[in-house]
Amino acid sequence: MCGIIGYIGEKEVVPILLAGLKRMEYRGYDSSGLAILGDDGIVVKKRIGKIAELEKEINGAKIPGWIGLGHTRWATHGIPSTNNAHPHRAKGGDLALIHNGIIENYSALRLDLTRKGHKFTTETDTETLIHLFQEYYRDCSLEEAVRMALKKVNGTYGIAVISRDEPDKIVVARMGSPIVLGLNKNENFVASDMAAFVEHTRDVIYLNDGEMATLYKDKIEQYSLEKEHIPLRVDRITFSVDQIEKGGFPHFMLKEIFEQPNTVEDAMRGRLLEDEGIAKLAGIEKHSKALTEAKRIIIVACGTSWHAAMVGEYMIEEFAKIPVEVEYASEFRYRDPIVEPGTIVIAISQSGETADTLAAMREAQRKGAVCLAICNVVGSTIAREADAGLYLYAGPEIGVASTKAFTSQITVLALIALFIGRRKRMSILDGREWVKEMKALPQKITQILEHNSIIKEIAEKFMNEKNCLYLGRGYNFPIALEGALKLKEISYIHAEGYPAAEMKHGPIALIDKNMPVVFIATKDATYEKIISNIEEVRARRGRVIAIATEGDEEIKEKAETVIYVPEVPHYLLPLVTVIPLQLLAYHIAVLRENDVDQPRNLAKSVTVE
Ligand code: F6R
Repeated sequence: MCGIIGYIGEKEVVPILLAGLKRMEYRGYDSSGLAILGDDGIVVKKRIGKIAELEKEINGAKIPGWIGLGHTRWATHGIPSTNNAHPHRAKGGDLALIHNGIIENYSALRLDLTRKGHKFTTETDTETLIHLFQEYYRDCSLEEAVRMALKKVNGTYGIAVISRDEPDKIVVARMGSPIVLGLNKNENFVASDMAAFVEHTRDVIYLNDGEMATLYKDKIEQYSLEKEHIPLRVDRITFSVDQIEKGGFPHFMLKEIFEQPNTVEDAMRGRLLEDEGIAKLAGIEKHSKALTEAKRIIIVACGTSWHAAMVGEYMIEEFAKIPVEVEYASEFRYRDPIVEPGTIVIAISQSGETADTLAAMREAQRKGAVCLAICNVVGSTIAREADAGLYLYAGPEIGVASTKAFTSQITVLALIALFIGRRKRMSILDGREWVKEMKALPQKITQILEHNSIIKEIAEKFMNEKNCLYLGRGYNFPIALEGALKLKEISYIHAEGYPAAEMKHGPIALIDKNMPVVFIATKDATYEKIISNIEEVRARRGRVIAIATEGDEEIKEKAETVIYVPEVPHYLLPLVTVIPLQLLAYHIAVLRENDVDQPRNLAKSVTVE
């Protein structure tokens, strides 16, 4: 949802901004631009398309200067075009601005400013901001003008502004969109994501909503919109540059799929005690009593994280015996949900910045619930605002389609189910068995990844299909949803996931020889039933792809194609059955020559509603 970067210092600015923008391209990639402040004033370069187009536009030219702003856009207001791209300017170039977020009252502000003589040249909400800054920028500092203007604004923003008249500073502000500052000797940075400047510094400051900062070359001042001074709190980030490189893989998505044996292991590292058969979760320990005694757990999330939440529902209800409701964060936040005493809310978000999930969590907190978070991005807003939480430790996920975060989320949810379950009715023997099975998962995932070339061949057979159904039961139903989501978002093939038994209540009407159906048909309590569902599809000439348990020979008679996964207990099935579906979607998308890491219309971190 747009990435912003700003630099002030002594190095050549353009390469720093372009490298930072490439690292944040996952946040939006329909247009991009730079503004460089130097002796000649502010020079702006913009281009529709990906960062590579902007690079072509600049063509290696040196643009001298000591301050720079860069932006990669995911359009909300105004079509993707060079004109609508950021940075935006006012008054012949005296000011330049980059923005991530949405100015909700921009129409009213624009009307008012037009009456005052401002001329608008783009269709964006962001342009309103720069005219507003200009309006207030009389006989005061840039930060004062920005501060006064922001008081008139409703909506979300992470902004960085520069002025030709005050060429020693970048002014930044945050409300609802992430902003992280990077500190280094004789240079400072601002960005939406620390990945943008990780090779320059690991010392960071996270801005909170309602906070501003002024970046000089050799210092940073932090303060609130109300002008209160805020002491700097510097955190040190741990991830390495290697983690944000493709590491020899053609796409980040494939790299991240192949990282899963390690990331699943990392999610449980140090959190399982085999002898006692328990999960040790320091992050939520202080809420263990509230969790164990909870009357209800509500999990809020979006997209793939919502699918992980559904798996969590099954696990927690079965093993911790607490009723669980899984809610789309976007619905929860607006429908005045009932949050009684004894309700615990868990927010799941890879990025920790998803606007709907953050708003749902805040709403639950307003209603008095204890809110726990399961996030991947360390220091993200949801992670910081939650009452307590657990990190995934999966490392940066850059492919727009979520893969390794999903399996890590399920791993952490399994730990929570065990954590509560063992405090309630689960025996030590069952607990030990659970720990043993979880610890065996990385090896089993590795075994599935060895089928990669077989899955590629299957992808070749199905790459030209127009539709696809994904069916599963029990713990595999959320995986049917996730498999369908992966396929549609990167291959653009229409796909739907259903509980297999629901097929005959409607979707069966779609079955004919042109409808491939992916059945997740592992050996578990519902196996016989799902075999009947497969027969129903075959009887209507549908083409069956089955995800089955190793050693199941019978299924070969029923399915056109079988992909085997190793045997695991039913509650851990999602962690193995999703892997071939991720690979299938990946290979189909590659064969269709789609941009796998940056699929059309999507962005990784959805920081707008
Ligand atoms: C799908 C995908 C999205 C995200 C969703 C929530 O592959 O990545 O559906 O899962 O936008 O994002 P987070 O988990 O960052 O809140």
